[in-house]
Amino acid sequence: MAKLWAGRTDGQIEQIADDFNSSISFDCRMYSQDIKGSMAHAAMLAAQNIISQADADALIAGLEGILTDIESGALPIDQTAEDIHMFVEQVLTQRIGDVGKKLHTARSRNDQVALDIRLYLKDEITEISQLIKALITAVTDKAEAYADAIMPGYTHLQRAQPITFGHHLMAYAMMLLRDLDRLADCKKRMNMSPIGCCALAGTTYPTDRNFEAEKLGFDGICQNSLDGVSDRDFCAELMSALSILMVHLSRFSEELILWSSWEFKFIELSDAYTTGSSIMPQKKNPDMAELVRGKTGRVFGDLMGLLTTLKGLPLAYNKDMQEDKESVFDAVDTVKMCLKVFAPMIATLTANTQNMKRAAQTGFINATDLADYLVKKGMPFRSAYKISGSLVALCIQSGKVLEELPLETYKAYSELFDADLYQDIDLVTCVEKRISEGGTSTASVKKQIAYVRQVLK
Ligand code: ARG
Repeated sequence: MAKLWAGRTDGQIEQIADDFNSSISFDCRMYSQDIKGSMAHAAMLAAQNIISQADADALIAGLEGILTDIESGALPIDQTAEDIHMFVEQVLTQRIGDVGKKLHTARSRNDQVALDIRLYLKDEITEISQLIKALITAVTDKAEAYADAIMPGYTHLQRAQPITFGHHLMAYAMMLLRDLDRLADCKKRMNMSPIGCCALAGTTYPTDRNFEAEKLGFDGICQNSLDGVSDRDFCAELMSALSILMVHLSRFSEELILWSSWEFKFIELSDAYTTGSSIMPQKKNPDMAELVRGKTGRVFGDLMGLLTTLKGLPLAYNKDMQEDKESVFDAVDTVKMCLKVFAPMIATLTANTQNMKRAAQTGFINATDLADYLVKKGMPFRSAYKISGSLVALCIQSGKVLEELPLETYKAYSELFDADLYQDIDLVTCVEKRISEGGTSTASVKKQIAYVRQVLK
């Protein structure tokens, strides 16, 4: 097919160069954004008397037909076309004749492609946000079910203090809420229209950029035409937000993997979200969680790829920028897949609360509470800390836990100890007394759950 841009050259390029140059294989997914952008453009051209209303009507009807036909499958996208913009314009002109050639007045593919990606990614952000909300709901529901299930909380992966599984899960709900917020923030800056910037310098036609921006649901327009066609910050910002989201999913995955191991056995993933081994009959592998952890690297790579492509590009448009799409599309697709598998994987997991409790009973995770007991009786914290530590050492020597030491032993360390100490170092007490805001008590966790549900509304 002859190139629409044949003119200075005859438009005949080598097959290998043509294939190399083509972006249709990946930008075809923006067909509806491209067509809707063109409809708004045609309407603006008529409103500004740049073309006649009759011409605009013909263009819009033609574009509508193309959209319907692509959607129904009646019009397959020609994979030998240069890109989606050229394909649509070419089909339009074939279908409605010469008037189709008027569509590209006061426009360039540079502002057109910038518009299409913004429109496309705005829709993707909406979809990803919905998926994050579904995951937060699954996490929060699970946290509610296990609001009082005691487990060891860790620092340095060493047992530290008793917490509840509900409390631990709610930490992830909070991270995911921030991810939602970051995406909303990213969308705010993405929601500025570049159409009308044209090739780079604006246009001599009396266009109305705000008319188009409004028609396409933007909050405003890019204020500098060079910037409008060169800016891909919104892609980098989106991929940064998605990378941080993937950090959260990856950390969560890592814990699910650890917790599913025989060494922990804190949780059981549903069979539906695990796999077996081709050789070892006993295996039940947490492949979904491992893949999410693995795909995190891929999303970081997408971000790094684009940043590296943009670095050092002179203004305004350069063909390098065509490389923006594959990375941002891959990041978006990967994140959506991960979220889609993660929510049901969380919803269907069960906790082995006995094992969690058993793990909490060893490791002296109530030693802080023992020190706090003495502090409440008037001892300075540092001195109390020392006594509690010495008692832990004694327990380790004698193979006991703090609960098993007799009162006389305690009294030998401090006269402040009394029989009520056993109540204070009971794990349930340790958890339920942590009523500070955000703490691990059942009441506090329920408050966190209510907070998250309120925000989601
Ligand atoms: N396929 C191109 C891209 O994705 C469209 C813009 C082409 N502009 C140009 N001046 N060649 O970036």
